[in-house]
Amino acid sequence: MAPVTSLASTVDQRIADALSAALPEAGSADPLLRRSDRADFQANGMLALAKKLKGNPRELAAKVVDALAGGDLFKEVEVSGPGFLNITVTDRAIVETLAARAADDRLGVPFAAEPGTTVIDYAQPNVAKEMHVGHLRSAVIGAAMVEILEFTGENVIRRHHIGDWGTQFGMLIQYLTEHPHELDHSRADEVSGEEAMSNLNRLYKAARTVFDSDEEFKTRARDRVVALQAGDADTLAQWQRFVDESKIYFHSVFDKLDMEIRDEDVVGESGYNDMLEETCRILEETGVAVRSDGALCVFFDDVKGPDGNPTPLIVKKTNGGYGYAATDLSAIRDRVGNLKANTLLYVVDARQSLHFKMVFETARRAGWLNEDVKAVQLAFGTVLGKDGKPFKTREGETVRLVDLLDEAVERASAVVREKSEGLGLTEDEIVERATEVGIGAVKYADLSTSAARDYKFDLDQMVSLQGDTSVYIQYAYARTRSIFGRAGDRTPVAHPELALAPAERALGLHLDQFGEVLAEAASGYEPHKLTAYLYQLSSLFSTFYTECPVVKPAPPQEVAENRLFLCDLTGRTLRQGMALLGIHTPERL
Ligand code: ARG
Repeated sequence: MAPVTSLASTVDQRIADALSAALPEAGSADPLLRRSDRADFQANGMLALAKKLKGNPRELAAKVVDALAGGDLFKEVEVSGPGFLNITVTDRAIVETLAARAADDRLGVPFAAEPGTTVIDYAQPNVAKEMHVGHLRSAVIGAAMVEILEFTGENVIRRHHIGDWGTQFGMLIQYLTEHPHELDHSRADEVSGEEAMSNLNRLYKAARTVFDSDEEFKTRARDRVVALQAGDADTLAQWQRFVDESKIYFHSVFDKLDMEIRDEDVVGESGYNDMLEETCRILEETGVAVRSDGALCVFFDDVKGPDGNPTPLIVKKTNGGYGYAATDLSAIRDRVGNLKANTLLYVVDARQSLHFKMVFETARRAGWLNEDVKAVQLAFGTVLGKDGKPFKTREGETVRLVDLLDEAVERASAVVREKSEGLGLTEDEIVERATEVGIGAVKYADLSTSAARDYKFDLDQMVSLQGDTSVYIQYAYARTRSIFGRAGDRTPVAHPELALAPAERALGLHLDQFGEVLAEAASGYEPHKLTAYLYQLSSLFSTFYTECPVVKPAPPQEVAENRLFLCDLTGRTLRQGMALLGIHTPERL
């Protein structure tokens, strides 16, 4: 296993060296290299440098060209315009670099130079509540970031900060205490996720009705909250029944999403209960938080309500209850102090951005976050319906995530059925593919726009074979595989001595960029950079597939082998990239 330096960075380094040789007084200079349509790469760095040193950019560029002469890397380097360099690398350099990638399990992608520990807070539904599209986004984006970061060598700790604590549990627990058989199961392992959720819904409605109509029940429910926060054993036992029932439901949805959520990573709001008091005490003692109207508050100069009055972060309410902020502050103390995180990443709806801004700032003032720790909210936008408004059912209710997923799989099965006619797939295989295609489509749509933007949930578009969809990529992958069935006894072999066709070069140069794209997606928390890369790879492959036959008309043996080599590496790259996004790539479609 060996990391492979991409052609782009080799070229970049060679030009940087040539620049410092030509202009020693420039010190180290950035060639400003990028991919180009005219040649393989273009370097613009000479312009700025010549300007700075009052030289002539074309002369400087010409000196660089001289210094680059010789060797196997460059086919052509020419000065163009006011002093750009157009750079074409040799076909040999491309194929040799790709062969080195193919020889490596990680496709030559290096590990990050200085990996750290990232705690990532994602997939955090709420106990006794239905999951909705917002929870989908957090789960899908978070899971992709976990994989991408781990692939770069980062130590990743997952945290599912589920909403399992707070005043709303008083009413539920009290109701269950008074109707103890409501959540009885003859055998817990026989309860489906759907049943668990409908039990919880039924209980919630019943409790709500009593709560709204019976003053005495209301008082008992409030006392329950106090008992819960004080850690009363019977109260906790009833509370645990809600959590367990909800977990049955959560797991069923995550299973549907083909996503692994481990119990040890589920540390909900309740997990920080023991720290809340101390968190507040420290904040008050250090003066970070102050009493205001009986509540413990943190104020910010730049956070004001519509009336112009400052909006504080409330860490302890007037009635002594702790809220969402106290929990998040305690979680920061735990993640930095005990888990030794260098980075805290929160995959949470953009509508909670103010909360996180205030929480992070408070933690900085208290010293729980310092220069060595970075806290970032990977804020995502809202999922919209086809009408461009926040996604709701026709009755105006929040759309249930499970219904959406089921529908996606159903649509996908129509596509798979039609497309795979003649492949002789069994009914079981069709169902399996439909799941991989349907769930993949939902994940891909979510990941392929930059997270901060809202996007329209449009199933027709998501399972379409045309355009930027996972199905398109899955088909490209299946083609990289099916070709081997038709290639007879020919095997993939790299032939650096061959001249490449334009479609082969374009595909090859793109394949070489996988590692760089991953590094960008990881450091900027941008899975959409990876989806864009994979989509382009699929479309370059499609051109290659049409223009560069392997079987008919049959090219010379070496050309066929080299093309099979490109197919194989494309397939492996697509497969690896999609796996990081949590999307399957079926071998046959
Ligand atoms: N449970 C919350 C919700 O459904 C999201 C929790 C986000 N994470 C956090 N550390 N506050 O909106």
